[in-house]
Amino acid sequence: MPKLVIANFKMHAPDPKKWSSFKSPKGAEVIVCPAFPFLAEWKSKNFKLGAQDVFYENKRSGGAYTGEVSADMLRSLGAEYVIVGHSERRRLGDTDRIVNLKLKTAISSGLKVVLCVGESKDIRSRGKAQAEKFIRGQVQTAMAGVKKSVLPKIVIAYEPIWAIGTGVAAHPADAERMAAFIRSILPVRVLYGGSVSSANAESFLGAKGIDGALVGGASLDKSEFQKIASVGSRKK
Ligand code: PGA
Repeated sequence: MPKLVIANFKMHAPDPKKWSSFKSPKGAEVIVCPAFPFLAEWKSKNFKLGAQDVFYENKRSGGAYTGEVSADMLRSLGAEYVIVGHSERRRLGDTDRIVNLKLKTAISSGLKVVLCVGESKDIRSRGKAQAEKFIRGQVQTAMAGVKKSVLPKIVIAYEPIWAIGTGVAAHPADAERMAAFIRSILPVRVLYGGSVSSANAESFLGAKGIDGALVGGASLDKSEFQKIASVGSRKK
């Protein structure tokens, strides 16, 4: 399976014109996740498109949900993937139950899901067993009621909260262990996210059982992200 390399632009708006020279390297699957208003502008033959969030109702006729965006709307703009349960959304109120509803709606609407899980620094400081217990809970609640047959449409991004946007990535061996743990709960592809850069991409994308990377800050720089994608394309 090719490594999955995902750009999460968050609430930033890089210029798609500057990315016209970006090429998904053969051997890696590249997904770009811009903010909602820019999805259509980012549609490209060079990579796949993903959204950063989705609402859990998907009324085809629309609905009275001010400010929300449905899975059908995202698909109509060209999104193939959606990130669900990012810690920055959880911090703003997405509970495990909401994450579960979003995941189910996204899948039943034909989107593929990048489910984010990750423990806080506080939980990690209580030891590996506590971190695993927490991650197991996040995975199990997010997946409640989800049929096994849709697992190929789900990838899990392990993103320890303390590593996101801090410049302090997890130790690759710890990420590898957690990826193996997640896969012992659920047979899905597992990515690592949290301060991935071209400087450390090799150690994560080359780690056993890590199937790709979810890249925030470093994805805002096209050439930096291109380098990370190239590393992914060389790893099996
Ligand atoms: P970061 O963000 O690469 O800036 O740490 C990763 C993410 O939030 O998905």
